[in-house]
Amino acid sequence: MSDLINEYCMHTATAGELRGQDEGREVVLTGWAWHNRDHGGLIFIDLRDRDGYTQIVVDPDCVSAEDFAKAEHVGREYVLKVSGKVRRRSEDAINPNMATGEIEVLADSLEVLNTSQTPPFAIEDGIETDETTRMRLRYLDIRRPEVLAALKLRHQVVQALRAALNKRGFLEIETPILANSTPEGARDYIVPSRPNPGKFYALPQSPQQFKQMLMVAGVERYYQIARCFRDEDLRADRQPEFTQVDIEMSFVQGDDVIRMMDDVMAETLSAVGVEVAFPLKRMSYAEAMDRYGCDRPDTRFGMELVDISSIVGNSGFKVFSGAVQNGGVVKAINAKGAGDWSRGDVEKLAEVAAENGAKGMAWIAFTTDGQEKSPIIKFFSEEEFSALKDAMDVEPGDLLLFAADKPDVANAVLSALRLRMAELLNIPREGHSLLWVVNFPMFRYDEEEKKYTAEHHPFTHVLDEDLDIMESDPLACGSYSYDLVMDGFEVGGGTIRIHNAEEQRRVLRIVGLSDEEIDEKFGHLIQALELGAPPHGGIALGLDRLVMLLAGKSSIRDVIAFPKTSSASDPMTGAPSAITGRQLKEVNLRLL
Ligand code: AMO
Ligand code: AMP
Repeated sequence: MSDLINEYCMHTATAGELRGQDEGREVVLTGWAWHNRDHGGLIFIDLRDRDGYTQIVVDPDCVSAEDFAKAEHVGREYVLKVSGKVRRRSEDAINPNMATGEIEVLADSLEVLNTSQTPPFAIEDGIETDETTRMRLRYLDIRRPEVLAALKLRHQVVQALRAALNKRGFLEIETPILANSTPEGARDYIVPSRPNPGKFYALPQSPQQFKQMLMVAGVERYYQIARCFRDEDLRADRQPEFTQVDIEMSFVQGDDVIRMMDDVMAETLSAVGVEVAFPLKRMSYAEAMDRYGCDRPDTRFGMELVDISSIVGNSGFKVFSGAVQNGGVVKAINAKGAGDWSRGDVEKLAEVAAENGAKGMAWIAFTTDGQEKSPIIKFFSEEEFSALKDAMDVEPGDLLLFAADKPDVANAVLSALRLRMAELLNIPREGHSLLWVVNFPMFRYDEEEKKYTAEHHPFTHVLDEDLDIMESDPLACGSYSYDLVMDGFEVGGGTIRIHNAEEQRRVLRIVGLSDEEIDEKFGHLIQALELGAPPHGGIALGLDRLVMLLAGKSSIRDVIAFPKTSSASDPMTGAPSAITGRQLKEVNLRLL
């Protein structure tokens, strides 16, 4: 806490800073009346501010009759100013669970700066009040120590990142919010332009194009704590507006950005007391998909996916052999500790599988008393079954879950089952595990749109060795790309960029743009690439997700001061709201 916190204001100490050695100090404290107790004659008030809380003692012998009467009528969350003397508590009154528990302040005067209605929910940690009520009165919710602590942690993380980046020569530069569409894969938020009837801005899904322009401009190293806007389905780790620590560097190639970020993250995590070994491990996208079935694996526990196609591909179980013959795979996980589950409990897991596209979920249970239970064992030869048990490292007490499908479906199904089983089996996932997932494919085929799209974004540089096959075999092209993964969440992602105009055109054509569309939507970028663009690359960290994980929270709403609900609204201000007919007319719009 800065020493200057007590300057330019009414108080001379915060409610969290006083200790035994402050005994005898005359202080003025301000804050909110938290817990009040009337102990026959003496009144005790826990006075709370953002820094902590201090016990105030109001003794009728030490304050005026008028102030004592005021103290008797102090209600919860009244705003107070108290002057008094710090005194050491008697031995038996010392509270070791309280930072200021050695002392109390004996009031000599008390002023009520403001009264308060009784708050509709308790200003305490761990309350069960529904989230909408808390969001409607978010200023009360933020008063709760755990919410304030999350915001303080967020501040510390941002300051540590800034310090680490400043030290390395990065310039903090702002880019426009009223901008043109940037393709990051979500829907845009659009804003009508009054002076340009029929024309719209798109709020940036990220500053991607601007930061690349800054590199062409010779800025060389840029960062920004950047607000981004994406109109997409919300989840616990997604908000319609969120914050990126957006970073771009020039004259980099290969793993330069990863190495820089290893150092920046090491300094940032250490500044908030989190010890992780750096440099972080790197895992290829292919390996992550193979072993965990997803590109953001939680590596704090095992239960890895095993490909058993070669063992069961010719078996008498048609579901398995059929999948392999059709170019699919059979993969399985071993959920140790679930072998004694009832058939009903196991079958319930099939819902998780179905939600992820599975046509069924075969299983084999090995009970702790040595039985083997499953509807499918009968289809395997003795050799097949024994090879399967070897491959899956089977012991009594194990439950095998299978997915037979196209590789991406089998991976999605088992990745979801793996996480669900970890939850249901209470597998310990303490501490933090960070890694880089690298070398994503450049393109993927979008079955719905029936076209190729860029796996990261279409400004990503294709691996040099794959440049020649870009048109003939897009799906075989790798890219210079990297995601930072923490505890099973993608907390950052970036790439080395295309800095050659012709390569940029080729990529945009592959993702389905005509030359006219390329000129119309990305003409400015192509032109910039033709005007001396240096090799460059960068990354964006999802600040909300990073802080959520560091704070041990399960939703990014818990680390955002004023978050939105799952329907993208703000119960406190009522946004979004209707506008007047006149406002609509001013921007040349009529509602359907
Ligand atoms: P990307 O789209 O991967 O990359 O975003 C970077 C990081 O931002 C976080 N994130 C989100 N956090 C909260 N709510 C959301 N709706 C949301 N969407 C994304 C994630 C993600 O890793 N311009 C590129 C970066 C680059 O190439 O430099 C980009 O935006 O943690
Ligand atoms: P069936 O022969 O369709 O009755 O399926 C036998 C078992 O295989 C059931 O437990 C199904 O849930 C399971 N099953 C069916 N399709 C698949 C699949 N694609 N992957 C894994 N298991 C499956």
